[in-house]
Parts: sequence; C-alpha cells; structure tokens
Amino acid sequence: MNPKAPVVAIYPGSFDPITNGHLDMIARGLRLVDHLIVAVLENSEKQPLFTVKERMEMLAEATREYSNVEIGSFNGLLVDYAKQREASLILRGIRAISDYEFELQMALMNRRLRPELETVFLMAGEAHSFLSSRLVKDVFRLGGDISGMVPPTVERRLKERITIEES
Ligand code: PNS
Repeated sequence: MNPKAPVVAIYPGSFDPITNGHLDMIARGLRLVDHLIVAVLENSEKQPLFTVKERMEMLAEATREYSNVEIGSFNGLLVDYAKQREASLILRGIRAISDYEFELQMALMNRRLRPELETVFLMAGEAHSFLSSRLVKDVFRLGGDISGMVPPTVERRLKERITIEES
C-alpha cells in the first residue's frame, strides 16, 4: 500500500435503522482512516422496515458532523463495491462472541474473493454491546424507552413508522 495514499474504508451493513452502536463504530473507525464510506446493502434478503433511501437519509443526518464520512449504497458483492470505490479496508464491529462466527465467515470469504482487501474489526463500546437494530425496533414496538440507543432522527422516524402495540 502506498503510505501517502489516503486510507479509504467501507463500513457496510443493513443499518435498518442506524443505532448509537453504529455511530460509535463510525467515530472509532474515523480515528484509523482518512475517508469512511458507510454503505447500505440494497439487495438484502432481510425484510427492512426502512427503504434504502430512508436509511441513507438517517445515516447522513446522524453523521453530519463528520466531513470525511460519505453515505453510499451497493448491490452485489461487497468486494466489488470496495474495488470500485478504491477502498483498502472493510470495517465491521463486534459486540459479543456471538457475532464472531458470522463475521469470521464473511471476512474469510471476502479475503478469498479479494485478498488485498483487509477486514478490520473494532469492539463496540461497553455501553453499546447489547444494541442491535432489531432489538431497538422490538423494544420501540412494545412501548419501551429507546432514548440513548438511537440518534434523534431515528427516534423521530420510528414514531412515524411504527404504531406502539398496546398490551
Ligand atoms: O448489517 P448486516 O446485515 O450484518 O450487514 C451484512 C453485510 C451487508 C455486511 C453483508 O451481508 C454483505 O456484505 N453483503 C453483500 C454481499 C456479499 O458480498 N456477500 C459475500 C461475502 S459474505
């Protein structure tokens, strides 16, 4: 790698929606790289709550303070998108040991597909190690308090999108 070239990393994910755990990863990642592309997967098998456009808007609002963060989206293989964007790193977060197996599989598959692309894992901050987009949506739907778990833009959109179930 040319030491003078700016280090570009991709932080890929579903981000349905972005949580404060993702934001923590972005802040940590920015200490290591010059330019971070937060990339939303378009062709996911998961049934998302928010459209790709909505997820990108929330990401953009939540990362507005960072001039070196770019919000993107991709279809197909992550390694192809990384090549197209001239990224040398993939950034992923690990919360608990349960994340490790899937993350290891993905990292090794991506290495097999494109050996020069390195995956870097960062450990989530303790305060965020239990957070996931899925749990946030569940808790919100069931009337629980999600303040401090997601940025304000997400809380606002969840209120517009989800009707709280009465018990
Ligand atoms: O937030 P997620 O859902 O855990 O993110 C998963 C993601 C988007 C990183 C992963 O599904 C992905 O990279 N998909 C793109 C397709 C691909 O490249 N697959 C082969 C490598 S595993």
